[in-house]
Formats: sequence, C-alpha cells, structure tokens
Amino acid sequence: MQYKNAFVFEHPLIQHKISLLRDKNTGTKEFRELVEEVSMLMVYEFTRELPLEEIEIETPLAKTVTKVLSDKPIALVPILRAGLGMVAGIQNLLPKTRVGHIGLYRDHETHQPVEYYSKMPQDIASSVAIILDPMFATGGSAVAAVDYLKNLGCADIRLVCIIASKYAIDKMSEEHPDVPVFCAAVDAEMNEDMYIVPGLGDAGDRIFGTK
Ligand code: PRP
Ligand code: URA
Repeated sequence: MQYKNAFVFEHPLIQHKISLLRDKNTGTKEFRELVEEVSMLMVYEFTRELPLEEIEIETPLAKTVTKVLSDKPIALVPILRAGLGMVAGIQNLLPKTRVGHIGLYRDHETHQPVEYYSKMPQDIASSVAIILDPMFATGGSAVAAVDYLKNLGCADIRLVCIIASKYAIDKMSEEHPDVPVFCAAVDAEMNEDMYIVPGLGDAGDRIFGTK
C-alpha cells in the first residue's frame, strides 16, 4: 500500500525485528533493545533529505572537496514516555542531535492527548524536528506534538513511529500534510480502547516494565 505522506519500511531486517516486538513473550530487556535497534535502522531513510555542505579536507594523498551534513540543527522530540525508548538508537548515528521532551498521555476515557510537560532546545524553531513515538494509533498525540512544534515556529517536522494505524496516517495527512510519517508497519485496525490491533500492546509499559 502506498501513502502520499508516509514511508513504510519493508526491509527484511526491520520486519523480522517487528515480529519479535509484537510477540507477547518478548521480555522487557529484549523489547527495549529491539526498539533501539529498529529506531537506528530507520535513521537511514528519515535523514535522506538532510542538507549537505562542501568542505575541503586532505586525504593522505591529496586535497579534496567533500560533503558533510550541514550545521542545521536536528532535534529529536520523543513523546513521553514511550518515545524515549527510541532516542538512544538514533543518537548512535546522529550524536549531535539535541532532545526536546514533550509529555503527553492519552486520557483513558476520551483517548484525547493531555499535555503535562515540555522542554525544547532553544533553537527548536530553526531545527529539523523529528518526533519519536513507537505507537501512532488515533494519531491524536502525534498531531498535538506537531501543533505544539508549529506554534514554536518549526517548519521542518517529521514523525518516526514503529507501528502506525491507517487511521492515524490519514489523520496526519489531513491535519498536517507537510509532515512526513516514517513507520515500520501499518496495521489496519484499532480495538474499542483505541489500541492498535494486532499491534504490540502498550509500548510504554513494555519498554519500562510497568505492567
Ligand atoms: C501511547 C503512545 C502514544 C500514544 C498513541 O502513549 O506511546 O504516545 O499512546 O496513541 P494516539 O495515537 O491514539 O494518541 P500513552 O498515552 O499510553 O502514554 P505512555 O507512553 O506514558 O504510556
Ligand atoms: N498506545 C500504545 O502503547 N499502544 C497502542 O496500541 C495504542 C496506544
């Protein structure tokens, strides 16, 4: 299935690790490591359009002009709690990124996101902002995070999640068509509690061992 606003990873290594994440018998330590690994593997694609600049260097044989990432700041914005589990894997490959935290939880009855915390890098408005959250279910939390970042002046925002629902991808396309979504799997359904089915359960609880 093709989406105009979403890139779905089909790499066998990622699909293999998603199956391990979905398995209810995967314990907390392995689950946390898998979230880190999948997040690291996704970096290659969501950084594809980052700007480069030319520099001059000397190899052991000659001077040459070569390319490096530009100085444009990149901010990782994990949605607390579960997004935190994605930060370390991404920072293995992008060590200079800063981290802006946004605390949102879903109200158990209304399923609407409730903001309880935020702390962003000072240069967030001029940064490439990469929102991280393993689960993109109704899309309410991620859309609220995009609203928040746009209010701060961010113009280059991307969402990286592990499992998305079709519903959430469509919602982001309607509310923020300029925000690309990168996800490792798309599931068709949600249950009456607005959990993704088959999904992987409660990502925050499985990462932090709280259930
Ligand atoms: C989960 C998940 C997302 C949100 C997704 O967080 O990590 O933030 O729900 O749902 P949505 O797309 O319908 O908004 P939760 O509210 O369970 O908080 P937690 O990470 O602190 O457990
Ligand atoms: N939050 C989760 O952790 N999992 C879901 O399936 C939906 C919301």
